[in-house]
Amino acid sequence: MNKRLGTILAYPTRPKDIHLENLENTSRKREKVCEQASAKRYFLLNNKAVNICGGRFRGFAMPRYASPAYWESVYSGLDNSTNPDVEWYLNAEQLSPFLWPLLSPSRPTDVLEVGCGTQPLLPGLRALRPAAFGRLLATDVSPAGIARLSATIETQVECAVSDCRAAPQGAGTGLASQSFDLVLDKGTCDALICSEENGHADVAALASEAARLLRSQGALVVITHYQPDQHLSGEGPDQTSDARPLISALLEGLCAQAPEAHWGAEAHVPDPDDCPRVLIFKKVLRRVSRGRSPLMTAPRDVRCRLLGNAEYK
Ligand SMILES: C[S@@+](CC[C@H](N)C(=O)[O-])C[C@H]1O[C@@H](n2cnc3c(N)ncnc32)[C@H](O)[C@@H]1O
Repeated sequence: MNKRLGTILAYPTRPKDIHLENLENTSRKREKVCEQASAKRYFLLNNKAVNICGGRFRGFAMPRYASPAYWESVYSGLDNSTNPDVEWYLNAEQLSPFLWPLLSPSRPTDVLEVGCGTQPLLPGLRALRPAAFGRLLATDVSPAGIARLSATIETQVECAVSDCRAAPQGAGTGLASQSFDLVLDKGTCDALICSEENGHADVAALASEAARLLRSQGALVVITHYQPDQHLSGEGPDQTSDARPLISALLEGLCAQAPEAHWGAEAHVPDPDDCPRVLIFKKVLRRVSRGRSPLMTAPRDVRCRLLGNAEYK
């Protein structure tokens, strides 16, 4: 059973837009917003200065996660700072309560998993509901990671080297527009956004590519350690949990690629004591009546609903 907790309205903000000299002013604004949040279970992010956590990685040595070269050295065994076979955040069974409602009711669901590493979700999901799925494709930017994966992965799941920011297009080689029902990401957005220089643009590019690949009624699912629910707590988010830069970049990419779609956004809180959160962006193409110009969606039009989930194990 889902429980609605609140709503976040995310506006695009970038780390470079943040003015630290406004800190004093900002903390007063944050207090006010947090008061409103606890009173109304509602958070409005409509002021750049509120977003003081945008410089979220200062002081943390994480930018290497954004680099394809870093992952290539991890998966080829040259860098042992990260276990190449670790499964990040949640497994297929833990994620299934969030995904089953997104499966197509009338035909097998085609799923693309981006940045899959060596432990993709797809084999586990297929094992749980074999008949529910059609094409299953797991991709990663690292050739060494995909080589490692292809040695063990079952034949019903394809795997390929591909950069999630721009999958190859074109007959025979590429992924056609509107060819998937679900695009899954676990930890790749978190890796990309570690780059202070390119993080926002790279996450927006991932979202834009997902928006291109998704059919109407399809969804982009992002599993992340950022915690949108932190905005509802009295203290607000700390630097490492502020989800707003991530959500803003995702909405920017989705709306830029498919502004004619309605984007339904949800942030699920599987377990308040454990950090992974599940962000779901549903694409619904609107019907356009003849002679009328289509409605266009901008990031600021998208409301992100915050939900708890009692089914999480
Ligand atoms: C934190 S790991 C997550 C791996 C896997 N999804 C999991 O949950 O176990 C991030 C993954 O993103 C991949 N990655 C990083 N940049 C990428 C890009 N531009 N395109 C595709 N994959 C990328 C890395 O190679 C790495 O496998």
